[in-house]
Amino acid sequence: MKLKIIAGSNRANSNSRKIADAIQERCNANIDAFDSVNTLDFAEVDIPHWDEEFWTKSEKWAPIKQDVIAPMKDDDAFVIITPEYSGMVPGILKNFFLLCSAKEMGHKPALIVSVSTGTGGSYPVAELRMSSYKNTRLCYIPDHIIVRDADNFSNEHPVSERLDYSLTLLGEYAKGLKPIRESGLINTKDFPYGL
Ligand SMILES: Cc1cc2nc3c(=O)[nH]c(=O)nc-3n(C[C@H](O)[C@H](O)[C@H](O)COP(=O)(O)O)c2cc1C
Repeated sequence: MKLKIIAGSNRANSNSRKIADAIQERCNANIDAFDSVNTLDFAEVDIPHWDEEFWTKSEKWAPIKQDVIAPMKDDDAFVIITPEYSGMVPGILKNFFLLCSAKEMGHKPALIVSVSTGTGGSYPVAELRMSSYKNTRLCYIPDHIIVRDADNFSNEHPVSERLDYSLTLLGEYAKGLKPIRESGLINTKDFPYGL
């Protein structure tokens, strides 16, 4: 099973990236379900703001489609890491969801990990659960993680054990949802958008 971690901050050396790296290490050490784990960090990949050319064969979007979006078809599960910026999911992460569709994300499980340097972190979880799944058909698992006091995050952080538990569950959801994608029942041609 392939896991993609999306680090939703465009700050260099962000806490989101630090936690993505920790998740990648924990998966390699403790989670048998995932034989491949890689990270997409918005501080490393410059993703333009969506515009109408995205729906055409424009050269502007070709590299992003080819190198960032299309490879996600091979992923079996996602960890979506969202910082809390002014109580919100950052625009760069919301913009990313505009570029994704059910072809890449549909009926695949995702674990939300929200990151705050303070005691916040709840609102972005609710925001992602409310709408980002609609057209992508991404399946957020019931558990999520909130990392508070993120500047002091380390493998000894109290949330680490819970991360292993949720990542283990994510692996089982990944196995469980694969047969649904392969069932032949999914019809994105007639029903491309959620309601
Ligand atoms: C523009 C901006 C707005 C922020 N707003 C909040 C906020 O509303 N609540 C909160 O808990 N932390 C807030 N923070 C702090 C982030 O929680 C902190 O930067 C954390 O490390 C996650 O972001 P990062 O992955 O970019 O490091 C904000 C940070 C920035 C840069």
